[in-house]
Amino acid sequence: MGREEVVVAERLVKEYESYEIKGFVPMTGFGLYALFTVLGEKLGKYERRVVRALDGVSFKVTRGEVVGVLGPNGSGKTTLLKILAGITMPTRGRAEVAGLDVVREHEKLPRVVTYVPGLAAVNLFVRPEMTVEWNLKRFADLAGLPREAVREALELTELAEDAHRRVYELSTGKLARLAIAFGLIKQSPLYLMDEPFSGVSPEVKVKLLELIRKLASEQGSSILYATHILSEAEQVCSRVIVLHEGRVIADDTPRNLAKELELMESVDIEVKLFEGAERVARDLAERADRVLKVEVEGDTLRLTAATRSSRDLVRYAVERVHAGGNKLLYIRVREPTLEDVYLALLSKQEASGEKVLAPLRVCYVFTGEVSRR
Ligand SMILES: Nc1ncnc2c1ncn2[C@@H]1O[C@H](COP(=O)(O)OP(=O)(O)O)[C@@H](O)[C@H]1O
Ligand SMILES: [Mg+2]
Repeated sequence: MGREEVVVAERLVKEYESYEIKGFVPMTGFGLYALFTVLGEKLGKYERRVVRALDGVSFKVTRGEVVGVLGPNGSGKTTLLKILAGITMPTRGRAEVAGLDVVREHEKLPRVVTYVPGLAAVNLFVRPEMTVEWNLKRFADLAGLPREAVREALELTELAEDAHRRVYELSTGKLARLAIAFGLIKQSPLYLMDEPFSGVSPEVKVKLLELIRKLASEQGSSILYATHILSEAEQVCSRVIVLHEGRVIADDTPRNLAKELELMESVDIEVKLFEGAERVARDLAERADRVLKVEVEGDTLRLTAATRSSRDLVRYAVERVHAGGNKLLYIRVREPTLEDVYLALLSKQEASGEKVLAPLRVCYVFTGEVSRR
């Protein structure tokens, strides 16, 4: 492992096992799963499922890089971050963080990794009736860190003015900043951020993303930033890793990935339908180089397509939509965004005919009588 490498992951595989008791309708959400497992054993019927959340993931992160981990829900982002944080173990493969093996040396990982909680997890950290500063100081004390770190974290997150306000008074945006402040008290070579800004308004998000970039450039920390929101990644990441069904389908700079759609333009079309959505979509798709997105909602069709000749596509679309008695609500030509690239990558992946085990990627299912240990 070179000195500049903060993360090295090699062929990481993570399989989750779960048991389903057959002939039973387990109530969920009551923490009764263990009980049902025992009952299921007594009754003698169960099904074991193995879900492969990560399927041979390899990549590297060097010092000071902000790397986006992109992928739709269920693609394995959280699992990957949890492995690097030492919260869960890989089934196979290996990974090192700042030279520490995530399996053999996982108890040392908290020294080099900071897991920044998303908004939802902030509530686990704070006492809302106490002030911002009180909460941060308590966190510093618990972690055995100097209290000066609290002042710095408050300044970096622009929360200094709110230091003496009670946490329950804070707006959502400030709460998200507080979540980051907890992460900043403890400076680390690696920050893992798992969708840290869900629920934060776009204006606040821009500022927070700026803060993340500063963390990398001034402190030389590396950041792995998991999100399914492409615009976030576009603003902050110098490189993105795209996960699909537990596999890395792309690992490059946003600019290089954009070459995927080089020379193409994106066209967004919205149609109020008076004929079948499928026919309209099919005809439009035929004239495009690649269809990136098709959505039908009630009588509205939304389609995004990549094309080398937007003039021809626009002219055809206007004609075709009106010829069918439909109404054209919206049409726009624009440069492709990272989202377009990402959709193109996913559609290519699906078209490549690889066996897709979606949505749960159940790799094997064992059925049988439970043997008593
Ligand atoms: N503790 C678990 N037990 C069983 N399956 C899990 C568990 N955690 C995640 N999974 C499954 O693994 C896959 C990847 O999940 P996750 O890493 O949370 O993806 P993401 O963060 O990209 O949404 C999903 O199919 C999910 O249902
Ligand atoms: Mg997740």
